[in-house]
Amino acid sequence: MPTTSPQLQLATITSREYRPPGFWCVSIRCPDIARTAGPAQYVALDLPGGFAVRLPLGIFTVKGDDFTVLFQEWGERTTRLAHAAVGDSLTCIGPLGNQFSPPKRSGHAILAGGGLGVAALWLLARDLRAHDVKANIVIGARSADRLVGVRDLARHGFDVEVCTDDGSAGFAGTVVEKVRALRRPDVIYACGPRAMLRALCDHAEREGIDCQISMEETFGCSLGTCWGCVVPVRRGSAQGTSYPRASEEARDYDLARVCADGTVFHAKDVVWV
Ligand SMILES: Cc1cc2nc3c(=O)[nH]c(=O)nc-3n(C[C@H](O)[C@H](O)[C@H](O)COP(=O)(O)OP(=O)(O)OC[C@H]3O[C@@H](n4cnc5c(N)ncnc54)[C@H](O)[C@@H]3O)c2cc1C
Ligand code: FES
Repeated sequence: MPTTSPQLQLATITSREYRPPGFWCVSIRCPDIARTAGPAQYVALDLPGGFAVRLPLGIFTVKGDDFTVLFQEWGERTTRLAHAAVGDSLTCIGPLGNQFSPPKRSGHAILAGGGLGVAALWLLARDLRAHDVKANIVIGARSADRLVGVRDLARHGFDVEVCTDDGSAGFAGTVVEKVRALRRPDVIYACGPRAMLRALCDHAEREGIDCQISMEETFGCSLGTCWGCVVPVRRGSAQGTSYPRASEEARDYDLARVCADGTVFHAKDVVWV
């Protein structure tokens, strides 16, 4: 799971597109990040005026000197970014985090995205195509109006299957049910809500399938220093860190910082508590 050296970059908003009912796709000109970003990496953004903590967003697509972020308007930071004007400047630290690894040999992959987890899949689909890996992309949401990012993937020639919990578009059921219904792949890549990731990890373990997940815990610094984003991982796994123990604390797992040791983890290394 390779990492790259992140840098603080001055960037400019080059386009913004509203996607009802509350999503935005914003394009940002920043050549160094656009040229070096890999699958599942993210940026930590700040706008003039300053956020208390930088806003982490996945790098969705790249084209030339620009990359896009796809996000939902939630609170202060995403609202300010959504309503910033084309031509406004901002600062980005990135690309941050490690990356999904391609399979060792060409084969068959399933890329599973729940909701905005789709943002971690475009660069992966691009890279898998370059490695000659056949990919099924499955994107799910609660209902048809909450499906985002599908046409960005389709526009670049990727085959995408959608599923909705309420059956209003595509397969009626969850991403996990759809993945179970597909031909057994050599590898599963996933990003999405915690319950979806956990169920996919269980499925992969039962079936003996290699599985990599990108996790999105709540972040503080995004830079590996505040320890606000730790998750339990198998003791001795490559991404475990020397998180300090309290005296007499008996812990049979390590703690990994999702922002710096992830966001991608091997399913077999994650300890679900
Ligand atoms: C590595 C990483 C990558 C991310 N990539 C993306 C991305 O590509 N697109 C994207 O939309 N978001 C992404 N997020 C989530 C995004 O950073 C958060 O949604 C962020 O907190 C929003 O900031 P805000 O100031 O607008 O809202 P906040 O003030 O932080 O939140 C406002 C309210 O909304 C709730 N809330 C915020 N985010 C969510 C959520 N995702 N689900 C449910 N409730 C929520 C909060 O609990 C709070 O009550 C990512 C997070 C991480 C850690
Ligand atoms: S968010 Fe600060 S260490 Fe991960």
